[in-house]
Amino acid sequence: MTEANGVAPTGSLDSTSSMAKNHTYVLGINAYDHDVSACLLRDGEISYAIEKERITRQKHAGGFFQEVVDYCLQAEGITLDDVDLVMRNCYVLPVEELEVRLIYQGDMNEREREQAAKTPLYLSKSNKVITISHHLAHAYSAFAVCPFDEGVVMVVDGVGSYSSDIREPGQLTEGVNPLARESESYYKFEGCKLETVKKVWLQPCRGLLSDEFFTMDGLGALYSRVSSYIFADWNKCGEVMGLAPYGRANNFRRLLDLKNGELQVPEWDADFNQPWMPDGEKKWEASPAMGHWEDMAWRVQHDAEEVLLERARWLRETTGAKNLCLAGGVALNCVANGRIVREAGYDNVWIQPAAGDNGIAIGCAYYGHLAIQKKPRTFVMRQATLGVEYADDVVQRAGNRLLLNRKIFNGPGESICRESAKLLSEGSVFGWFQGRSEFGPRALGNRSILADPRRAEMKDKLNKRVKFRQAFRPFAPIVLYERATDIFDGEDESPFMLRAKQVRPEWKDRIPAVVHVDGTARVQTVRREQNERFHNLLMEFEKLTGVPVLINTSFNIKGEPIVETPQDAMNCFIYTGIDYLALHDTLVTKNILYRILSPFLKVYYESMARSRDETD
Ligand SMILES: [Fe+2]
Repeated sequence: MTEANGVAPTGSLDSTSSMAKNHTYVLGINAYDHDVSACLLRDGEISYAIEKERITRQKHAGGFFQEVVDYCLQAEGITLDDVDLVMRNCYVLPVEELEVRLIYQGDMNEREREQAAKTPLYLSKSNKVITISHHLAHAYSAFAVCPFDEGVVMVVDGVGSYSSDIREPGQLTEGVNPLARESESYYKFEGCKLETVKKVWLQPCRGLLSDEFFTMDGLGALYSRVSSYIFADWNKCGEVMGLAPYGRANNFRRLLDLKNGELQVPEWDADFNQPWMPDGEKKWEASPAMGHWEDMAWRVQHDAEEVLLERARWLRETTGAKNLCLAGGVALNCVANGRIVREAGYDNVWIQPAAGDNGIAIGCAYYGHLAIQKKPRTFVMRQATLGVEYADDVVQRAGNRLLLNRKIFNGPGESICRESAKLLSEGSVFGWFQGRSEFGPRALGNRSILADPRRAEMKDKLNKRVKFRQAFRPFAPIVLYERATDIFDGEDESPFMLRAKQVRPEWKDRIPAVVHVDGTARVQTVRREQNERFHNLLMEFEKLTGVPVLINTSFNIKGEPIVETPQDAMNCFIYTGIDYLALHDTLVTKNILYRILSPFLKVYYESMARSRDETD
């Protein structure tokens, strides 16, 4: 695998392949701004996909895309020579225009400029390198890999392309202000054919002088404005959603409304005079404005749900569709998604697990496959595990460290799942590293931190020892698919942890550590065919406890991306209060010397964590 700092030339795009080619490859790239990512299709199926943050260890990493392209090509064992088509998007500007500006601007560091100079993808004139617009890429990331032959797609995010930059036919840009930007897009599809039904635009408020998107009047933009107001960061929308149930209902004036299908957003004026100012005050949770922020979070969450529901119903009534797909950053709002599933009237709802801009790479690749190469849809994205699987010897080497004990479970009758379930039931906190890494913002059982949900104190324990998150944020349950309806409302499956469900009353006291203050949980269901090892672990835990549920939170600490390599997992394990680390079949624990030294390691790591701005 490429070193994060390495510069790896990737071949000449327009040359003939150096070896006999058996496959057709399309590479999709989310380029330059936040959440840079790449996705490689082999004959129309996703072979690999990765986000830059997982490699560089900087959350939401932007900039040049060398690392993610190399990751996919090297995992597949090919070079750029073997790639038939490269599809890209950057929501800010068309990539080719942005790259010309980057020549003069300082947005790439010296290392990235070296990388760019060595790849034919930078400033490419090749007709194999194509840019598409933003919401179209989100739409393809959903319908092209969903399990339905026909249906509709909702794309709602913070901001997409300028109308003047949308060149694909049929995108309803006629008569639209060239400086307006995509906010909501609605489509219907049948097979490979996608048709635009409606688009909602962010109108420019300062003409040629572009504002930050979150000052504009759009659903995702307004939600991000609230995030900026409460957390001083536009990208903390998940935290706003988590804070919302603590707010008082209707104690803040309406923030979003629909009148005859037109979105109404109020003036951002004197009511909004208590923003979080991180430089002036360090203790966010002790601020006297906390109640005000909670009420505002309740309001924006409530209003967003109402608008999204009305839009989803309108789309169903307009098209007669029975199947709905969701993509765009707003589709990460699992509470709104839960309401759409229950109340919008569709038979089926499928949500792209990488609904944010990391998923743009998937959408770009599938636009290339379906719309450019005119190939059929053959692939359904049933898994989000799109990273590489590290070899057992690499994994075992990572576990071979001073201060640690190892036990390998590979003998007859030995089971790391049985042993781990026992230790979890006794209150241990586990790092769980197995198989291919997940693509998207959720750890879904391959790069997870696990704990016993029966213990109410486990939430505080996880925060104190590992995650260092705000206390109001809930932890999510992972449950055996076969038992999910016994414990949570609704028949629908939730393989990607993207919908909130009510916990049934008789279970609330049995799994208190995963029940949010409003009685909901952000559920992930696991079928045996989706993740056999995790399914086994849950079965073993149920045998011991009668509870087929574990706490599942991403394997990282505050401010860091989810671990990618065994080494990343080991670093997180060593420097935090995780008790056990399962690395494939190896169970790692800390020895007595570690316990003597751990207070010093803990102080060091906590100080590093607190110095970061971001949370997971
Ligand atoms: Fe987006």
